[in-house]
Amino acid sequence: MQEAVRVGLLGCGTVGSGVVKILQQNASIIARRAGAPVMLERVLVRDVNKPRAVDFPAGVLTDNPEEVLDDPKIDIIVEVIGGIEPAGAFIRRALKNGKNVVTANKDLLAAEWADLMDLAETRRLDLLFEASVGGGIPIIRPLSESLSANRIEQVLGIVNGTTNYVLTEMSEQGKDMAEVLQEAIARGYAEPDPTADITGLDAARKIAILGAIAFGAHVQLEDVSVTGITSVNARDILYAKELGYVIKLVGVATEEPEGVEVRVGPVLLPKKHPLAAIRGVHNAIFVRGDAVGEAMFYGLGAGSLPTASSVISDIVEAVRNLRSSASGRWIQTGLQRKPILTHTVRSLAYYLRLEVTDRPGVLAAVAGLLAEYGISLRTVIQRPVDGKAELVLVTHPCLAIHLDDAMQRLSGLAEVERVANCFALEGEEER
Ligand code: NAP
Ligand code: HSE
Repeated sequence: MQEAVRVGLLGCGTVGSGVVKILQQNASIIARRAGAPVMLERVLVRDVNKPRAVDFPAGVLTDNPEEVLDDPKIDIIVEVIGGIEPAGAFIRRALKNGKNVVTANKDLLAAEWADLMDLAETRRLDLLFEASVGGGIPIIRPLSESLSANRIEQVLGIVNGTTNYVLTEMSEQGKDMAEVLQEAIARGYAEPDPTADITGLDAARKIAILGAIAFGAHVQLEDVSVTGITSVNARDILYAKELGYVIKLVGVATEEPEGVEVRVGPVLLPKKHPLAAIRGVHNAIFVRGDAVGEAMFYGLGAGSLPTASSVISDIVEAVRNLRSSASGRWIQTGLQRKPILTHTVRSLAYYLRLEVTDRPGVLAAVAGLLAEYGISLRTVIQRPVDGKAELVLVTHPCLAIHLDDAMQRLSGLAEVERVANCFALEGEEER
């Protein structure tokens, strides 16, 4: 057996403690697969006296970054601290010190991708990030390696476990959003600041990473149009069910001849769509390529051991590369600048919920206005609510730019008190 490869772990919280557990539990399997034993040399935390879910030999824990980042015995640095700083500075220092890096940090990658990749490429080092998207689901390596024959047309994914858990519990148990969010936090699914989950920001970071890999394009966080789940109301969930759909927060990245479109938001998916069946903290990423057709990657999208499983797959990859002098063999540089589309150019159907006055002629006024923009209606539900009426419409496919213009005018109609919600219908292609 080869000499051990030494790892420095930055962070020992939810994910870090999972990494330690698996390295201890599956040491011999990992050594066999990597071709060398993997030894945890040092672990950096903020507070060395805090009780931990895992035990270490004396002298492994430290709160001094230099003792990990500057230790010449360490070959691979695993960053599972999260956030932009000091995680970014730690990764840069590790690369400058000639260490390969594994990270789960989508915040940092979505913000500083080009700079970090350039640094790793210049030094011929690995910068691997399988755990940054989809928790335990293998998606980064499949997308960049296994599907490399394809022109990827679209990536459509449930990429945030917290919001999928919240929407599932709201839909199946009729629970309140705030109550379920607390459960997701207690289970270790949410980000340290769960606003990033609820507002769609976490999903936006992940779909930006997937879009960059899928299309070889610069996709930055600010290129992603983002809507979170706070606007989703129990009534929308009920109407969606009645119409034969499920509401999910999805990330969608599509390459069109006009450019690349990347968005995150709640959408209605037909009940028979494979993503509609994804419950709880599970994630799934649906990829459409010109050769493979449709492929779906499914699994636990967050949590200690599933995420650590992806981190360790990167450690094994980094060890193999080290042993064959192939570190840095796959670095995602050379991304092209492609036009970023602010409005989708895809023709999609939309769900609209309007609060309207309860009198004759309202539906005719609304339908008439939409018709001026070439938008026709597929389904209409009208219900009395608290002395007013609620009008739920599903349009035939139309262009978002036309719908936006029509919605502005709808809000100004005397009969319309409020446009309560508007969600696209995704995944309606024949299957
Ligand atoms: P976490 O539970 O909050 O753990 C963070 C760890 O980093 C803690 O051990 C903390 O030390 C340490 N730390 C924080 N600031 C530090 C500093 N300035 N210096 C040294 N150590 C510091 O976070 P997590 O949930 O494991 O997430 C880690 C990363 O994985 C994030 O990038 C996250 O987005 C990503 N991720 C998480 C999940 C998930 O399911 N949780 C899934 C996929 C990806 P103390 O323990 O002493 O406080
Ligand atoms: N907060 C994230 C989620 C963790 O809920 O998906 C995994 O990246």
